[in-house]
Amino acid sequence: MQNFQFPFERLMKTQLPADIQQLVAAAEQVADKAYAPYSHFKVGAALLMEDGSMITGSNHENASYPVGICAERAALATLDMNNNANKVRAISVTYKPTGHTHNNPVAPCGMCRQAILEVQQWQGQPIAIYMYGPDGEVIYVENAAFLLPFAFGGSDLNADKA
Ligand code: THU
Repeated sequence: MQNFQFPFERLMKTQLPADIQQLVAAAEQVADKAYAPYSHFKVGAALLMEDGSMITGSNHENASYPVGICAERAALATLDMNNNANKVRAISVTYKPTGHTHNNPVAPCGMCRQAILEVQQWQGQPIAIYMYGPDGEVIYVENAAFLLPFAFGGSDLNADKA
């Protein structure tokens, strides 16, 4: 048998470097802008770019449920993928406490992991993930690929070019 293993760290928000604390705070703030009348689960995501700028997104639901989009993909979809100059260093994802949920860190859903990995493969540089919960705890993973073992990617479609 073979095993997958990857490093991760649990820490409190206050232990994070200043720029990452700001990233987490941006994700918290943008969660307020979520449109989540069906799940009432308001999620915020923030991308930290290499130039220090941030891009944010929140979940946007729809009466036709599958039409809804997650916070992470709302943020990622605004990236200029024709310009490889400004890469994504890190993503933070969090949600607003409602009283109906636990307050643990929230992890990107499977579809968002696939979307994050697309960007990571496109930019050729790892994207760190900071999953944050209202109780102040953060789970840090240094490479988005760790969250999606045996991932499907562009190289599967372009085997001749790989
Ligand atoms: N959601 C996100 O925005 N990101 C995730 O990674 C997990 C789920 C949203 C989708 C839906 O609007 C709500 O949370 C409940 O699933």
